[in-house]
Amino acid sequence: MHVRRLVPDDAPAYRALMLDAYRDHPDAFTSSAEERAAQPTDWWAWRLAPGDAVAQRVFGAFDGDTLLGAAGWSRGDRAKVSHRTELFGMAVVAAARGRGAGRALVDAVIADARAAGARTMALTVTDGNGSAERLYARCGFVRIGLEPMAVRIGEAFVAKATMWRRLDADAAGPQTSSPRSQGGAASKQRVR
Ligand SMILES: CC(C)(COP(=O)(O)OP(=O)(O)OC[C@H]1O[C@@H](n2cnc3c(N)ncnc32)[C@H](O)[C@@H]1OP(=O)(O)O)[C@@H](O)C(=O)NCCC(=O)NCCS
Repeated sequence: MHVRRLVPDDAPAYRALMLDAYRDHPDAFTSSAEERAAQPTDWWAWRLAPGDAVAQRVFGAFDGDTLLGAAGWSRGDRAKVSHRTELFGMAVVAAARGRGAGRALVDAVIADARAAGARTMALTVTDGNGSAERLYARCGFVRIGLEPMAVRIGEAFVAKATMWRRLDADAAGPQTSSPRSQGGAASKQRVR
């Protein structure tokens, strides 16, 4: 298995992977299969646009030429929040799960965001999605909050947990201090 950044030529395989994931795991994603299936092919290629300046970058895990999974990161363009990033669109095909593809994708996303100068990464995960939450925890993310009724699935609602980690070299790996102490410090005084 190898991981590389996806390019516009990967758009058909990326689209198929994500539509299957939205369809099979409606609770896990904010996007619905119907909404995303309606997006033109160009939208998927746009999401995979090359270059360092783009707002989002997506990585894929491959077995040969076959796409097994994907995950991306994004950040805003305003200077005061350009140190913050978000991990999105994490999915591995069912047949390839439990073999480290998810871990390799999160590691690649973190390494790329760090190389781009980012300082923090956040993500949201549906409360109760144990395999995803365990994966993120192994990759150094800690839960910093829970939004009740964050996503509507038919007539039901699911809560979304926010998980977060610093990307700086001194905070690489599992967190050693609690998010409360980090958040507390950050909220009361300037941190570097
Ligand atoms: C969450 C998801 C991305 C994880 O992908 P994955 O490729 O299975 O992740 P990994 O293989 O790195 O880790 C998953 C499990 O396999 C285990 N594992 C990893 N490498 C392994 C190996 N070589 N041998 C045996 N087990 C292994 C891990 O310990 C982990 O176990 P756990 O879930 O009990 O903690 C995948 O389950 C998925 O696509 N789920 C549906 C969509 C979804 O929920 N996306 C997340 C949205 S926030």
